[in-house]
Amino acid sequence: MGKSQNLYRKAKNIIPGGTQLLSKRPEMFLPDFWPAYYKEAKGCYVVDLDGKSYTDMSYMGIGSCILGYADSDVNKAVKRAIDSGSMSTLNAPEEFELAKVLIALHPWADMVRYARTGGEAMAMAVRIARAASRKDAVLFCGYHGWHDWYLAANLASDSALDGHLLPGLNPLGVPRTLQGTAFPFRYNDIENFLKLIKIHKNNIGVVVMESIRDQKPIREFLATIREVTKKLKIVLIVDEITAGFRLNTGGAHLLFGLKPDMAVFAKGMSNGFPMAAVIGKEEIMQRAQDTFISSTYWTDKIGPTAALATIKKFRTCNVSKHLAYVGRLVQEGWRTLAAKHALKTEISGMLPLGHFSFQYDKPLELKTLFTQLMLAKGFLATNAFYASYAHKEEHVQKYLSAVGEAFAFIAKAIKKGNPAKFLKGPVCHSGFKRLT
Ligand SMILES: Cc1ncc(COP(=O)(O)O)c(C=O)c1O
Repeated sequence: MGKSQNLYRKAKNIIPGGTQLLSKRPEMFLPDFWPAYYKEAKGCYVVDLDGKSYTDMSYMGIGSCILGYADSDVNKAVKRAIDSGSMSTLNAPEEFELAKVLIALHPWADMVRYARTGGEAMAMAVRIARAASRKDAVLFCGYHGWHDWYLAANLASDSALDGHLLPGLNPLGVPRTLQGTAFPFRYNDIENFLKLIKIHKNNIGVVVMESIRDQKPIREFLATIREVTKKLKIVLIVDEITAGFRLNTGGAHLLFGLKPDMAVFAKGMSNGFPMAAVIGKEEIMQRAQDTFISSTYWTDKIGPTAALATIKKFRTCNVSKHLAYVGRLVQEGWRTLAAKHALKTEISGMLPLGHFSFQYDKPLELKTLFTQLMLAKGFLATNAFYASYAHKEEHVQKYLSAVGEAFAFIAKAIKKGNPAKFLKGPVCHSGFKRLT
């Protein structure tokens, strides 16, 4: 074991769960062997504490670094912001500049508020929406963070949130009185949505969803949601925290002609620097003044500066086109190589956020083995690829050549019936699990 794994073992004694983000736990990738910590990250390269360099063909800062790590243009702007004082008693004018940019990109929206992380921005949006509709219940689809309004869905049944990106989320500590305030519906399932509307009609004030994630939206699904929410005066919030700024410069909902009442942006917007924005129609956003929503670090200058520089680069470099290009290369590569080695896989996800699954009895064993084999070849890799502007054709070529070798190895191990024999450590976790 190297310095990174040793440090992680020690960290678990004084940091419960080891990390601040479930998706950064080494156990989610390759228990005992994933290099938990880094000392440098630039472009799509990451150097661990032992000085080993890896090409990141996995999550790129869990989707936060669309331009690549330590992007020079964004960093230059941020360094200026730091040197000119990133915090003061007065406000940063960049807040106004960014609001203008976001409203220009989303002409249906009139006003903007800021936060610094996705989950808190979602909590803010839900609070404003409840204040506007004066109704408590939220119908939602997908993953939206760790806050009480969301985890309340698991108070009724601890599996309600399964199928919404992260299975097994425990609502312990969420007041039981919130039971019956959040109900999940399935993406692209119109009947399921309408059924829930019928049951809870009188109490629903908010509908929360991503406009797109793993599946392409059925036009009628989005149209039904918009029509019903409008008719019943329910506030429709689109969560663009991960989908936004990948398929286009702005929210993905723009591509589908969906005009929500509010939209939320975060990690897709500022290339690794904490920033989040809630945008919306004036009559709803003004309700932020009727409730109390306020925090010191929502006023720092780095966040809006990073977002402005990132969005500028998205535009000037046509970044979404590049993400689709490398994302397609990777997905096509997986497909070709899986067919070549007769590996049963399912490939899904939009081009910039692709993933595959092994269609076998013990898929997690195979996923762990894949990560182990790829790590040995110098890649941070799992069964997903989040494309960035820093990924160029040469990275994809080298990666696919390694994937070919890994797939060949896995196919052979499956044939022999003993893939688990090749694992150096335990099988990876699939969702939330307590770490003792
Ligand atoms: C769609 C969506 N909503 C909300 C969140 C939560 O954002 P954060 O991790 O910044 O709190 C995420 C994070 O993965 C997300 O993908």
